[in-house]
Amino acid sequence: MDTEKKVNGFVGGLGFILAAAGSAVGLGNLWSFPYKTSQHGGAAFVFVYIISVIVMGFIVMIAEIYLGKRAQANPVSSYKKINNNLGWIGLLSIFVPFLVTCYYAVLGGYTVKFTLNSFSDNTSVMQSFSGNVGEVILYTAIFMILVMVVIMAGVQKGIEKSSKILMPILFVILVGIVMCSLFLGNGVLEGLNYYLNPDFSALGFDGVLAAMGQAFFSLSLGMGVMISYGSYTGKNIKVGKSAMMIAIFDTLVAFLAGLAIFPAIYHYYAETGIELTNSGVVLMFSSLPIVFKSLGIAGNIVSFFFFGMVSIAAITSAISMLEVATQFIIQKFSIKRKKAIAIVGSIGYLVSVPVGISLGFALTGKEGMTIAGQDWLTFFDLIGNTVLMPVCAFGACIALGWFTFKGKNAKENLSSNYLCSQLEEDGLKLGKFGKVFSFMVKYITPILIAVVEIFGIIDIVFPTQNGAREFSGNGLVVVVTAYAIMLVFIVLYFLFLKKKETGSNEDEITKNLS
Ligand code: PHE
Repeated sequence: MDTEKKVNGFVGGLGFILAAAGSAVGLGNLWSFPYKTSQHGGAAFVFVYIISVIVMGFIVMIAEIYLGKRAQANPVSSYKKINNNLGWIGLLSIFVPFLVTCYYAVLGGYTVKFTLNSFSDNTSVMQSFSGNVGEVILYTAIFMILVMVVIMAGVQKGIEKSSKILMPILFVILVGIVMCSLFLGNGVLEGLNYYLNPDFSALGFDGVLAAMGQAFFSLSLGMGVMISYGSYTGKNIKVGKSAMMIAIFDTLVAFLAGLAIFPAIYHYYAETGIELTNSGVVLMFSSLPIVFKSLGIAGNIVSFFFFGMVSIAAITSAISMLEVATQFIIQKFSIKRKKAIAIVGSIGYLVSVPVGISLGFALTGKEGMTIAGQDWLTFFDLIGNTVLMPVCAFGACIALGWFTFKGKNAKENLSSNYLCSQLEEDGLKLGKFGKVFSFMVKYITPILIAVVEIFGIIDIVFPTQNGAREFSGNGLVVVVTAYAIMLVFIVLYFLFLKKKETGSNEDEITKNLS
């Protein structure tokens, strides 16, 4: 016990798993997974999604947790520890989740608004709220403050403790809502059929691409998060087992979210003959409130729990996104945790304001507030998630697969058996799976990630009508901006960080920065 008190990190394995699951389970599970599934061929999509989780997500997750755990430090230091020329990947992995936070917080603000408004009429809120700049800014601030308070309290007392309380609550609410939904009666079977009937013709290559991207986002990969959280784990944590549990839990929650939503939407259709929109922002913030309203007071109560649950999911995810930058700032600049999160959170909030306004413009059909022909949210999402996230995930595989342990001769260096044995010696015990993992992380997974990156870019530069996303802006500007940002970080790294100390988790204790 005594020694553990002095460690800057999670107290136990369960704490780590719940915190990482808290990061993974978010808007991606409760909102985008269900509608993407229904759009891309139901169970066919789920099938490809699960394969993506196994052959890419799971592998990258082990790689990232291990990189952090091994270095016991922020992502920049974690990569530097492997090779001094790779630290920029860490820097980029800190920036990407920060960028995502700037729009995630806006959506988080929406979920808080809908929760608190559950007992009044939520059906017209999307229109009235999204266009109301003052209110959007206010709710984004509330969301951001909740996130900051938890991070301020520290890894153990804030992140770990809150996850241990919030994640079980989230799961219980979700199961409860699924039960309610499945027993609505009329239309439930049609809803299930719409959600899950496998239709491989509706899947197509676009669906496969969407499933792969969704797997990364949903598991919080390529964002420094798992490196950062992994760095807070001690010797006693089994990386492979933890990663498996996180991935299974995340997938289960996503699947259940669809079971909660679609029967309800189809029940409403069966009762009223009115078809509600099943996709995009509209599904959660406009269609569901209509269903809740039609159910009277019971609907109000369910609405409160539903949006409360989504808020919890969004908060625990945003916590992880912001912790990455906070950790780095604490360690690199020897700044106290409270000050670090105040800086990171405030900048994030300031950027989220125009994102919120721009989203409001888009939702209320007003002109203006766009970048490259798109609202700011889409712009940020494309840069962070579509272009830069795969770069970071690819980097994690390459760093681990090709740089961690150099063999004595070139030939040895290439073999995945050699990597496997070295990983074993270094404490990454994966048993029989070790060989498979080493092979995957070296060869297969990076190739698949490259496919995601290349086709993701093609998809936004040459958007097709039924492409992976509805995109009408200037894709070239998006891609060029994203790579320009990457270049800036590479230059910054080599100029200012490569030869300098970038700190470790221990600093927070030894330099008394908590
Ligand atoms: N995994 C979260 C979700 O599904 C989002 C997230 C992405 C969180 C990246 C942290 C880092 O909503």
